[in-house]
Parts: sequence; C-alpha cells; structure tokens
Amino acid sequence: MAKGRILSGNRPTGKLHLGNFAGALANWVKLQEDYECLFMVADWHALTTGYDDTSELKEYTREMLIDWISAGLDPEKSVIFRQSDVKEHAELHLLLSMITPLGWLERCPTYKEQLQQLSGKEITNYGFLGYPVLMASDILVYKADTVPVGEDQLPHLELAREIARRFNYLYTPTFPEPQAKLSQVPLLPGVDGRKMSKSYGNTIALSDPPERVRELVNAMVTDPERIRKSDPGHPDVCTVYAYYKGLAPEVLESRREECEGGQIGCVACKRQLLKTLLDILGPIHERRHELAVQPGLVESILEQGAAKASPMAARTMAEVREAMRI
Ligand code: TRP
Repeated sequence: MAKGRILSGNRPTGKLHLGNFAGALANWVKLQEDYECLFMVADWHALTTGYDDTSELKEYTREMLIDWISAGLDPEKSVIFRQSDVKEHAELHLLLSMITPLGWLERCPTYKEQLQQLSGKEITNYGFLGYPVLMASDILVYKADTVPVGEDQLPHLELAREIARRFNYLYTPTFPEPQAKLSQVPLLPGVDGRKMSKSYGNTIALSDPPERVRELVNAMVTDPERIRKSDPGHPDVCTVYAYYKGLAPEVLESRREECEGGQIGCVACKRQLLKTLLDILGPIHERRHELAVQPGLVESILEQGAAKASPMAARTMAEVREAMRI
C-alpha cells in the first residue's frame, strides 16, 4: 500500500561516493518499496551555479544515473527522469515566480551562504536567486507530499510550503504542503576525517575497485594517541569508527568495546571495515558491470522516465492554468 508520493533529486555531479550512498541513496532504495517515488536528475538546477561550463553536464548525468541504478534504484518501481525532459517544471517555475515575494528568496539562508562561499563566482543572477522556486516547482508539479533530503535543503522545503500555501490561498486549493523526510544516518567523513567531498579528494567512489578501496581504508586516520594495540582507543575521534556508525550500526557497540578495551588493533579493525565496505560495494559493482554492456541503457531509462513523469506533470499544469485562469 502506497504511503504517499515522494520526489527527490540531485544535481548531476558525476560519480557518486559512499557518503552520497549512505546519506541519501540507500534510503531512496528502501523508500521505493513503500511509496510512489520519483527521482530526478536536476540538470537545470546545476545551471544555477554552473551555467558557464556545461561541457560535462551530459556525462555527469550519465554517471550519476548509472550509480543510481547500480545502487538499486529500479526504473520498474520508480519514475527516474531528467528535469529538463519535462518542460512543465519550467512553466510552473514561471507561474510560481509571479507569486513569490523577492524577500522570501533573499532571506533564504542557503542563498546568503552560497553567495559568500562562492564569492569568486558571478552568481548574482536571476536564476540563482530563484533556485528554491524551481525546486518548489519540481515537487509541486507532481503534488509530492514527501521529500527525502539532507538537512541543507530544509530552507528550500520551507519555501516550497510557503509558495504552495500562497498559491492555494490566492487561487484555489491545489497543492499539498510537502514535508521533508530526513534520513537518520550520520554523515560519513572523508578518509582524512574532514567532510567527504570531491573537492577535497577524500572520497570513496561507488565505482572504486576493491584494490583502491583497500588503499583508502588503509589511509584512514584513526585515534592519533593510540600507538600500541593495548592502548585504550577513542572511537569518537576515529574515522574508521565513523564509517561503522554510518554503514554498519549493528557492530558499533562491540567495536567500541574492543577499541576502548585495547582488544582490537587499528589494522585489524580496518581489515574488518574493508570487508564491510566490499560487502556493500560488491553487488553495486556487479550491477555496474551488467549495465556497462547494455548500450543505450541510460538513454532508454531517461526516455521511459520522461514518458511516465510528463503526463503526471501535464495533469497538474492543466489544473494550475484553470486555477489561474490562464
Ligand atoms: N536542491 C537539491 C540539491 O542540491 C536538488 C533538487 C532539485 C531537489 N530539485 C529538487 C531535491 C526537488 C528534492 C526535491 O540536492
């Protein structure tokens, strides 16, 4: 029995890493069983900050999609599509932009933050300011009620609800107010203990072969105060332990006891983690290899996804035009 309708998406950033998997993707895979799901490659959103170099956009879309499918998103269960293939998102974005006060967008914390962080980049653009309006359109055009996202996206969800409320008030009740669904998984750090990010070069990619994963696990930073195995360790400062937390909560307690009690050394603990990681990555790699030998697969998944998403979006737009008397 369907609980409701989910929409989520990511900007195409190329190959995904274990942090993406633990934080979002693994959760999406499970949600497919209980909800009606739509998962979207947000290529228009990528333009809001990356409009000046679009050379990799198609390749990034392709790589992300292959990772999605390898990790278990299933085009038979979910609608998997690319934002720019469903033009209704753009029409709704235009119409919602008419009823969205500038102040709402200017006050958005992610907007202010990004302006500062990307200060070397010219992003004082109309499209960038309107990022949350486009995101609201993505959600509302399918009347999705549940949106699994990371904490960083909560201000956008809040705006989506405000925009929905304003539309319903100005015209006629049309949109449900979409709720965020946060995943409970703690953030996976990069192998150096900092935030996992491609720009730091500290990621484990879903497509990394086992030998590479072994190198990366061996390079992980553990408790620096621990010299000998018999020294009591401090799991809370250890990167390896953070991986157990994110990926294998069932062994967490025993790992902590063994580490604090000096019963397991870092080398052995890493060996165990490597096994855990390879158990997770094995089936993903297997599916990746199967996909690689099917030419045109990504294209056909996107085509099939757009064919399912488009009529849903078109139905909502017919209602929206009627409500606005357009
Ligand atoms: N803003 C999201 C991100 O950067 C991507 C996104 C675009 C999205 N449209 C969406 C997420 C709609 C959820 C729902 O991660």
